[in-house]
Amino acid sequence: MTKKARVLSGMRPTGGLHLGHYHGVLKNWLQLQETYECYFCIVDWHALTTHYDETHTIAHHVFDMAIAWLAVGIDPNKSHLFIQSKLPEHAELHLLLSMVTPLSWLTRVPSYKDQQEKLTEKDLTTYGFLGYPLLQAADIFAYNADFVPVGEDQVPHIEFAREVARRFNFIYGKDDDHVIITPPQTLLTKASKLPGLDGQKMSKSYHNTIMLEDPPATVEKKIKTMPTDPARVRRTDKGEPERCPVWALHKVYNDEATLEWVQTGCRSAGIGCLECKAPLIRAVNEELEPIQEKMADLKAHPEKVCAALELGAARARVTAQQTLTSVKEVMGLAYPF
Ligand code: TRP
Ligand code: SF4
Repeated sequence: MTKKARVLSGMRPTGGLHLGHYHGVLKNWLQLQETYECYFCIVDWHALTTHYDETHTIAHHVFDMAIAWLAVGIDPNKSHLFIQSKLPEHAELHLLLSMVTPLSWLTRVPSYKDQQEKLTEKDLTTYGFLGYPLLQAADIFAYNADFVPVGEDQVPHIEFAREVARRFNFIYGKDDDHVIITPPQTLLTKASKLPGLDGQKMSKSYHNTIMLEDPPATVEKKIKTMPTDPARVRRTDKGEPERCPVWALHKVYNDEATLEWVQTGCRSAGIGCLECKAPLIRAVNEELEPIQEKMADLKAHPEKVCAALELGAARARVTAQQTLTSVKEVMGLAYPF
């Protein structure tokens, strides 16, 4: 049997997960875990690079993230699911890589300046923040991952990692073909089809999310108060689904017959907006119900979450230590004493 290709991805534990994460990232991971040897890492050190002054929430967010991943179906027996800071090998590798990483490669990664300009309330002129992409490279290299599923915004980070891997192999490889660190490839995740409540991308900072943990009544309220086609001021005004954020959600959640009903009803003013929203509310709640049931079970049995994380960390450690052994060897650090 040929060895399965390896996949690694990470997510920053900076708050609850919403349907955008589910449709945009996690569903993709669920497919990947059927085909690849997957490593899914809760990157708490990465959260610290920008949230170093909000440490009181980290533990909570890490645990919630583990619960959410398990609840949507990340299977700890198929995938390695673990917390970054439990694997100090990542930090050691980061340090060793830092020796050969030109400073200019880090300062020119677009997110370095972008984030500093965006998060003006934070001082991000730190060593840790500058090193963010290198730490990400270490996450990937620790497992010699072949593929990294990420969104568009992360592509420069994977490109950067490839360059670091090539430079490392060039400096420490015995000959041109000696690959110590696999240069990873991007598995580009298509932008989520799932817009937020206002039609923009679903994102915490836009306050337009439906959270995985929102109870049915909250989902109902959020969808009921969604803006619709502005042309439909009165019930008798005809509308156009293409101008309505509710329609965008319908397309993700409902079948052809319902979509037909929405289009005809909207354009002829045959249905009202609240009526139109009803099957959407139902569909979202039906999707969330089993996830929330699992979340509740895991919250009541935190030992299950701990066991999954420990299993993931123990298995990840085996691979990460092998990598560190070969990296230290080529860097002259495999002392006999
Ligand atoms: N930088 C990624 C983000 O902000 C998170 C991340 C950290 C990551 N390490 C990783 C993603 C390794 C993929 C692989 O979303
Ligand atoms: Fe939007 Fe439906 Fe109202 Fe049309 S009927 S404007 S699609 S909510």
